[in-house]
Amino acid sequence: MKRKLRIFRYDPETDTGGSFQTFELEAVEGMTVLDALHKCKEEQDGTLTFRWSCRSFICGSCAMTINGRNGLACKTQLSDLRGTIRIEPLAGMHVIKDLVVDWEPPLATYRSITPHLIADDDPPEKERIQLPEARRRYDAAATCILCFACTSSCPVGWTAQNYLGPAALTKVARFVEDDRDTATDHRLQMIADENGVWRCRTAFRCSDSCPKDIDTTGTILRLRRRIAARALRGRVAE
Ligand code: F3S
Repeated sequence: MKRKLRIFRYDPETDTGGSFQTFELEAVEGMTVLDALHKCKEEQDGTLTFRWSCRSFICGSCAMTINGRNGLACKTQLSDLRGTIRIEPLAGMHVIKDLVVDWEPPLATYRSITPHLIADDDPPEKERIQLPEARRRYDAAATCILCFACTSSCPVGWTAQNYLGPAALTKVARFVEDDRDTATDHRLQMIADENGVWRCRTAFRCSDSCPKDIDTTGTILRLRRRIAARALRGRVAE
């Protein structure tokens, strides 16, 4: 079956703005958007540029906007998309070339929230033991692959440059809900301001775009409840 793809093109060396190029290809059963992009590049235009790596929705490299919705090209089946397929780089991010965006700003935000375990007790001889039921508390948040499909889809982040955004806040929740981590007060304090959880307008677009089906909106709301409960107990400074 023939399918048409309208793909965003932008070359910083020759273009002042982006435009769309139409490709037509013969789609086969099981073909993903990433397969289609490879086919376009190999058979029609070798300059088409996109980021990819694992092809197994693990690395998050191929996050892009497909028919208006953020997702992973390697996970999205052509057969699930109707009509001409419109493919664009993630919104709200600086485009480097074609479908490749600059991940450095969201990664800098991510690094700012101390995205690793903090434990102030002496390290054990082997690993820190954790019960399965304790691990299950942050199972969902731990599946984040840092594709930033959520952060890119958030309308608040498009205008509020300093908003931490759903990807970083989900990572905070991952450690707040980990009973081995001893920095809960510090972490909650860090996100309890106008650039943290209170900036979220519960738009739900982040949850809708997560390729790992993480309920990022619910995660942010859980963090808010924790902050409110601690403030009530006088443990988080206003
Ligand atoms: Fe943005 Fe998600 Fe909140 S889309 S406004 S972070 S619910």
